Amino acid sequence: MQIIEQTDDHAAAIERLLDLTFGPDRHHKAVYRLREGVAPAPGLSFVIENGDGLAATLRFWPVMLLDGQAALLLGPIAVRQDHAGNGYGKALMRHGIAIARAQGWPAILLVGDEPYYGKLGFSRAAAERLHLPGPVERERVLALELTQGALDGASGMVDKAAANGGQATRGAGAEPDGAT
Ligand SMILES: CC(C)(COP(=O)(O)OP(=O)(O)OC[C@H]1O[C@@H](n2cnc3c(N)ncnc32)[C@H](O)[C@@H]1OP(=O)(O)O)[C@@H](O)C(=O)NCCC(=O)NCCS
Repeated sequence: MQIIEQTDDHAAAIERLLDLTFGPDRHHKAVYRLREGVAPAPGLSFVIENGDGLAATLRFWPVMLLDGQAALLLGPIAVRQDHAGNGYGKALMRHGIAIARAQGWPAILLVGDEPYYGKLGFSRAAAERLHLPGPVERERVLALELTQGALDGASGMVDKAAANGGQATRGAGAEPDGAT
């Protein structure tokens, strides 16, 4: 199993896998509001391929916290059903988290099951005071600090990043770079 960076050639297969996994109406999910008009975080889109095509996908999107600090939103992540339970999901996330840390991102948020994502360090406690737009089950909003204390004092509604991908606002305590 090899994790590689996503290229344009993977785009159609990723859309097919996401449609299969989450349904073709997945774009109506509230969390997609945070991705609309915003590019995925650079260098943080990964796939796993095998002999018969795309087996798994993981991307991250930049978002902005109320205080102007940038963070990442993990997802969507999907593993083809015939490869479920082979460790692809965890391997993709460990890889993504390591790259995100190396890039200097302070924290990662996601919407998902704590029993699964907790194995990778995500917790409800770290996201307790953060809200995502739309109808989202509060207990499924999880976070992982990549730098200690990055989410101390972070509260309120998470917003879309600037269309530039949030680059200018990355890093703890950084100022927002204008309109979001
Ligand atoms: C969730 C998903 C990404 C996991 O990928 P995967 O490659 O099958 O998972 P891994 O092989 O890395 O990990 C499997 C382990 O996670 C556990 N697991 C998987 N989904 C879980 C969940 N929702 N809650 C708790 N545990 C879960 C398995 O029981 C297994 O446990 P073990 O390691 O103790 O045996 C994949 O099943 C998937 O695409 N599911 C549908 C889409 C989805 O739910 N995406 C996440 C929405 S945010």
